[in-house]
Amino acid sequence: MFASRVPPVLECSATTAAASRGALKGVIAIYPGSFDPPTNGHLDLIERGSNLFDKLIVAVLRNPEKEAPLFTVEERREMLATLTRPWKNVVIDSFEGLLVDYARRLGAQALLRGIRAISDYEYELQMALMNRKLQPQLETVFMLPAEKYSYLSSRLIKDVFQLGGSVRGLVPPLVEQKLHFKVNGARYPSKPKTGLLGAPGRPRLVKRTGKQA
Ligand code: PNS
Repeated sequence: MFASRVPPVLECSATTAAASRGALKGVIAIYPGSFDPPTNGHLDLIERGSNLFDKLIVAVLRNPEKEAPLFTVEERREMLATLTRPWKNVVIDSFEGLLVDYARRLGAQALLRGIRAISDYEYELQMALMNRKLQPQLETVFMLPAEKYSYLSSRLIKDVFQLGGSVRGLVPPLVEQKLHFKVNGARYPSKPKTGLLGAPGRPRLVKRTGKQA
């Protein structure tokens, strides 16, 4: 099912063994999005997609026309790469142009999108049907994130954080740290006790002074 010349983004180490693969053998799926920044809802969906598909490519849209993002594409890719390290069949990439063209280049058979609430449905339906019109072989698969994340969006996270609200438990600690750094020019003095991927630690914020480490 894989293309004979495997694009670099699909190359995986030999340790990507059957144990870490999803149930749908040979099915490559793309989870496209802005991920500005990645939230716990995104990660929840990535875990579900990783369990289902043989390979899941999380693809960050490079879109110069969109309103100025908070994080650069490279910063978002870096965060996603760190956060998805536990899932060996997940690859982080970025793309520009039409999603269906990108999917064709990678030999992907499915697109993964999350639906949180009815309000998402109309937009997602439009996109899925347009993508199907452009590329009938490409299936869009919708998954539901955990209910506790059903109200979450990157936009809300940015709004709340920029206005001084807490986003604890809604984004991974790593993202919370990056938000502090980006928005407040502050950083954690040391790693949160429970690590940046797991449950939040108890960060003490320090103002950045002089040269950064
Ligand atoms: O996280 P988002 O911003 O809701 O993701 C939207 C995304 C990236 C899936 C969508 O904007 C997209 O696919 N853009 C690529 C350009 C394209 O193919 N447009 C036609 C889609 S119908």
